Amino acid sequence: MISNITIQKAIPEDAQEIGEVFYRTWLATYPNAEVGITTDDVEDIWKNRGSVDGSRFKSFPDNELFLTAKCDGQVVGVCSLVKHENKNELKAIYVLPEYQGRGIGKMFWEEALKYFDKKKKICVEVADYNAPAINFYKRLGFVDSGNRFPMKISFKSGAVITEMEMIILNK
Ligand SMILES: CC(C)(COP(=O)(O)OP(=O)(O)OC[C@H]1O[C@@H](n2cnc3c(N)ncnc32)[C@H](O)[C@@H]1OP(=O)(O)O)[C@@H](O)C(=O)NCCC(=O)NCCS
Repeated sequence: MISNITIQKAIPEDAQEIGEVFYRTWLATYPNAEVGITTDDVEDIWKNRGSVDGSRFKSFPDNELFLTAKCDGQVVGVCSLVKHENKNELKAIYVLPEYQGRGIGKMFWEEALKYFDKKKKICVEVADYNAPAINFYKRLGFVDSGNRFPMKISFKSGAVITEMEMIILNK
C-alpha cells in the first residue's frame, strides 16, 4: 500500500497523461508471441487512437465514471467504470508497471463498488492470456462466466485477442 496515492475523477487536463498510462501499460501487458500481438501492434493502435494528445479522454458519457490514481500529481493509474441497463462493467483498469502490486487496483475497486448499481451483476473482459489480471479479478471475487469474445480492436498484424468474460453476480 502506498500512502501518497489519491483516486480522483478524471479532469480534461489529465487527458494526455491518461493516454500515456494506457500506452505504456498496454506495451507491458499485451505483446505475446504465441497470440501474435507485437509491440508494433500496440504502438500502431495507440498512435491511431490518439494517445499522443489524449483527445479521447477529455470527456466521458454520463453512464461512465473515469477515475485516475495520482502520485505527487502525476497520473499513474486509470480506471473506467460503466453502468449499463442490465449490468455494471469494469471497462478498463491500468496501473503503470512500476506502480503495480502496491494497492492501487484495490483502491479503484473500492470506488467501483461505491459507484456500481448493487442490484446488477458486474462484468469485466480480460485477455485470456493475461494471467496476472485474471488472478487479480479472482482475488476480487470474479469468476469465469464461460463466455469468450474477440477483442473489438483490429491489430495491424491481423492477430486477434480472445477476451474472457468474468463476472460477480451479487455484491
Ligand atoms: C491488474 C492490475 C490492474 C491490478 O492492480 P494492482 O494495483 O497491481 O493490484 P493491487 O496491488 O491493488 O492488488 C490487489 C489484490 O490483488 C492481488 N493481486 C494483484 N495482482 C495479482 C496477481 N498477478 N496475481 C494474484 N493476485 C494479484 C494482490 O495480492 C492484492 O490482494 P490482497 O488484497 O490480498 O493484498 C494491475 O496490475 C495492472 O494494471 N496490470 C496490467 C494491466 C492489466 O492487465 N489490466 C487489466 C486489463 S483487463
